[in-house]
Amino acid sequence: MRGYSHGHPLFLPTTEIARNHPLTEFLDKRLLFVTGKGGVGKTTVAVALGLRAAAAGKRTIVCEVAAQENASRTFGHAEVGFHEVEMRENLWSISIDPDESMREYVLLQLKVRAMRDMLFRSRIFTYLAAATPGLKELVTIGKIWELTQLDRKVKHGRKYDLVIVDAPATGHGVGFLQTPRTFASIARVGPIHSQAQQLDRLITDREHTGVAIVALPEEMPVNESAALEHDLREEVGVAVDRVYMNALYPERFSAEESERLAALAGGEDGAVRAAARAAVSEHERARSQRAQLARLRRRVQAPVKTLPFLFEPELGVEGAEQLARRLG
Ligand SMILES: Nc1ncnc2c1ncn2[C@@H]1O[C@H](COP(=O)(O)OP(=O)(O)OP(=O)(O)O)[C@@H](O)[C@H]1O
Ligand SMILES: [Mg+2]
Repeated sequence: MRGYSHGHPLFLPTTEIARNHPLTEFLDKRLLFVTGKGGVGKTTVAVALGLRAAAAGKRTIVCEVAAQENASRTFGHAEVGFHEVEMRENLWSISIDPDESMREYVLLQLKVRAMRDMLFRSRIFTYLAAATPGLKELVTIGKIWELTQLDRKVKHGRKYDLVIVDAPATGHGVGFLQTPRTFASIARVGPIHSQAQQLDRLITDREHTGVAIVALPEEMPVNESAALEHDLREEVGVAVDRVYMNALYPERFSAEESERLAALAGGEDGAVRAAARAAVSEHERARSQRAQLARLRRRVQAPVKTLPFLFEPELGVEGAEQLARRLG
């Protein structure tokens, strides 16, 4: 079933195939981006995917970008920084700092030491990055590319089976993943053009690179996730393999029970009434979330998988593990 996104199903309707698209196939890719709006659970899902892949024996690295450190914090590591740090068996984490990526890139590119020293001393990158929108994103993706290579460019670089990127929140559409193409079209020729093109080819390689969108069961997040999927497919040209509807409340009551609760909520007994009202309101919430789930399923092409809301003050690694087991 690999590559269903290119092929034309002979017998099954696409939705049917998409629904059955198994997790193992997703984790068999080499590079995964986890994306979505701010605060929807991207880091949590990226870590859960990492745990699941690592448990399946894949050497996996979860990358945070823009100097975030939330994934490592899940494992109780204060800061990993721009280093590949082992969180548990088969699972590493790195926080990709754009300045460090730029420095590493230059070190790899420039063989003349005096010239490198001169460049670093002159703080030319600080100025360059400030003057060139998207440059930080470009070098970040450059580092992601480097991590995916089996023939690592950095000395003693580990070979990973799977690189999972906890992508930046999509404030303004699909910016991050589109960066290489933008650069390739601005720089028409030369090394920037060819390297940006190489990064774009990596991102749009549907066989090896995948995307998961994380959504929440509310009206606006559903609309935004559907728009994001559309733009990622149509404008960036990536494979969107999954949409995770995160933090779904359990449906605790049957229709019959909810009717009885509604009757109690209008009853005489004060304590019973208060408890029944609370239960009715939670039932309503769970029902409205199911309605949003149905809307999401209608509006996106990718299979929609659900993740439960975990009633914990802080998720931590146990929470991530619980979600990892529930990943579809
Ligand atoms: N299924 C869940 N159940 C309960 N809490 C959750 C769940 N998923 C995520 N959370 C919590 O919601 C908060 C936001 O999650 P997370 O940090 O993963 O989101 P994010 O999309 O990475 O946010 P940001 O855009 O700020 O990076 C965290 O406190 C996390 O522990
Ligand atoms: Mg995050």
